[in-house]
Amino acid sequence: MIPAMKNEKDLHTRLLAQNKDWSERMRQERPDLFTELAKHQSPFFLWIGCSDSRVPPNEITGTMPGDMFIHRNIANMVVHTDMNLLSVVDYGVNALGIDHIIICGHYGCGGVKAAMGAEFGGLAANWVRHIRDVARLHHDELTAIADEQARFDRLVELNVAEQVYHLSRTMVLREAWAHGRPIRVHGWVYGLHNGLIKDLRVTRDHYDEEPGMVRIA
Ligand code: CO
Repeated sequence: MIPAMKNEKDLHTRLLAQNKDWSERMRQERPDLFTELAKHQSPFFLWIGCSDSRVPPNEITGTMPGDMFIHRNIANMVVHTDMNLLSVVDYGVNALGIDHIIICGHYGCGGVKAAMGAEFGGLAANWVRHIRDVARLHHDELTAIADEQARFDRLVELNVAEQVYHLSRTMVLREAWAHGRPIRVHGWVYGLHNGLIKDLRVTRDHYDEEPGMVRIA
């Protein structure tokens, strides 16, 4: 976004004008696009990403309206009791029939950085608490990394891997896999510095018994 926008009084009018231009351009380039999209959606991908303004899912993947069902929150978290996220996953998998799920974090994530710093107040502190848990789970690996930037980058990656794991534990995916659906959950990290996505190769495509699960008879 151009810096001058910040000083403009009626910023929203700029957006409305830009929307008009965009709509006209799209209708010229793809005359049938809006007619088709108005009828139904059949996206191939479910994207779970960070709310960060610098990581817009459609733009960075070269996709169009209608291609992606999208959920975003701070630090691309899959929290077991998050009804918002679970509803999106349920609808995406069971109503829209999506088999490709992407959890995409990004280097330089403010949420992950906040979890590596001092404790702080505010609602976001509760959210970030989940990332502190990820760091605690991987304490040995993280403390062995001397360079702070490298440690930050690694926690971004571990956080994505952890969220891929969380998603694989949900009843939605467990039941879909039990019914033979070929659903794959991918873990990716986007680089703010070069605009490139790295595949962490932590893909999950079936339900496993939980390793190290403490059981009682
Ligand atoms: Co972020």
